[in-house]
Amino acid sequence: MVRLRNAIVCAPASSMTLGITTRDVGPPDVERALAQHARYCKALERCGLQVTSLPPDPSFPDSTFVEDTAVLAERCAVVTHPGAESRRGEIAAIRDGLRRFFPTLEAISAPGTLDGGDVCRVGDRFIIGISARTNEEGARQLGGFLERAGYSWTPVDIRGIEGLLHLKSGMAALDDDRLLLIDGLAERSELAAHRVVGVEPREWRAANCVRVNQHLLLPRGYPATERALRRMGFSLVVLNVSEFEKMDGGLSCISLRF
Ligand code: GLY
Repeated sequence: MVRLRNAIVCAPASSMTLGITTRDVGPPDVERALAQHARYCKALERCGLQVTSLPPDPSFPDSTFVEDTAVLAERCAVVTHPGAESRRGEIAAIRDGLRRFFPTLEAISAPGTLDGGDVCRVGDRFIIGISARTNEEGARQLGGFLERAGYSWTPVDIRGIEGLLHLKSGMAALDDDRLLLIDGLAERSELAAHRVVGVEPREWRAANCVRVNQHLLLPRGYPATERALRRMGFSLVVLNVSEFEKMDGGLSCISLRF
């Protein structure tokens, strides 16, 4: 797998409770979210990443979910055009934050929309979810940038899968071949080239985990998945992200890793 060296994060703003969510489990506790975020950053550092923190901006309640604002790879860096209008203003700060790492930044433009949470890299292939946030045009634009940089891409329509905001809410690359998948994705022909590891339906949110170099970050609260992954030999770092889950977020959404 590509060695990751950096992460960009943005701690939750005081306005986090006003962000977009489809869940009906009450608002997040911002103090608790800040503590969870700090532990997450420490875990990224333990995995060998240098963490750059952008200042929280209360004008953008969802701005802690930085993964949606860019797609980053060794030969290609793309700033997105998020599907939710209220999130489009998050891009300016991310663009500024990325400039010192990526001299050339491509950008998705209207009518294309794309959230980075809909993009899952497995080896040199990028799987792009067509969702309520990412449209075909956004996927096509990103695919073009990726192809020109020597990567391949495949669109997967996830609009029929109930409860799935982003592709990576239900999929994670465990390495350059294996995908951890929820039931609704496990049978998809577009993913047949990969070895599939399934998550139990009642633990489907565990599919939002993140491989970072030698470790796999896994959300707390999914014991069957944790046991299965340990048996497979993964070095797990289990983290509580309960306050982010209340806002449809998870482990992958709160950092950009490259
Ligand atoms: N709350 C994150 C999002 O809906 O994009």
